Amino acid sequence: MNGNSLIGGPGKVALAAAPPARPTPAATIRLTVNGVVRTVQAPPDTPLLYVLRDDLQLQGPRFGCGLGQCGACTVLLGDKTVRSCIIPVAAAAGQTVTTLEGLGSPDRPHPVQQAFIEEQAMQCGYCINGWIMTAAAFLAKTPNPSDGEIRTALSGLICRCGAHMRILRAVGRAAAYRG
Ligand code: FES
Ligand code: FES
Repeated sequence: MNGNSLIGGPGKVALAAAPPARPTPAATIRLTVNGVVRTVQAPPDTPLLYVLRDDLQLQGPRFGCGLGQCGACTVLLGDKTVRSCIIPVAAAAGQTVTTLEGLGSPDRPHPVQQAFIEEQAMQCGYCINGWIMTAAAFLAKTPNPSDGEIRTALSGLICRCGAHMRILRAVGRAAAYRG
């Protein structure tokens, strides 16, 4: 019999409850976030996004789908984009994480951030973290992209507001700054 078996005597039937899953014990994890070494206590399988937002109070990466499908939670792990909602924090141990906050500042925005401002490329803004982080990583490796290359690089991101054309213009503008 397993934990979901029906049990009970005549006239009395109950579903046996499965034993509650035992939480993973917390571990001490060190990682460098936006240039600062941080130490957190968290179960190693905690999504990196939760640690960034809840433990480190970084609000750039957003929770969208939670399934690795929309890109709202994108951060850089080293120089690669990752979807922090599906990356366990243990995968970032000893590594360098960059969030939207570490890309630029209001006084000194990253060229992609500056281009998004100039193109007014966001509507509600919820998705914008993913586009900016992905575009920044892409342009760092591809300084003179074609329109087709930009579209391909950004094709895995979702904007529910349909601001795609403005976003593409902003990334093209940022590429022109850098090219
Ligand atoms: S919230 Fe991570 S991909 Fe959607
Ligand atoms: S600007 Fe609203 S979801 Fe993209």
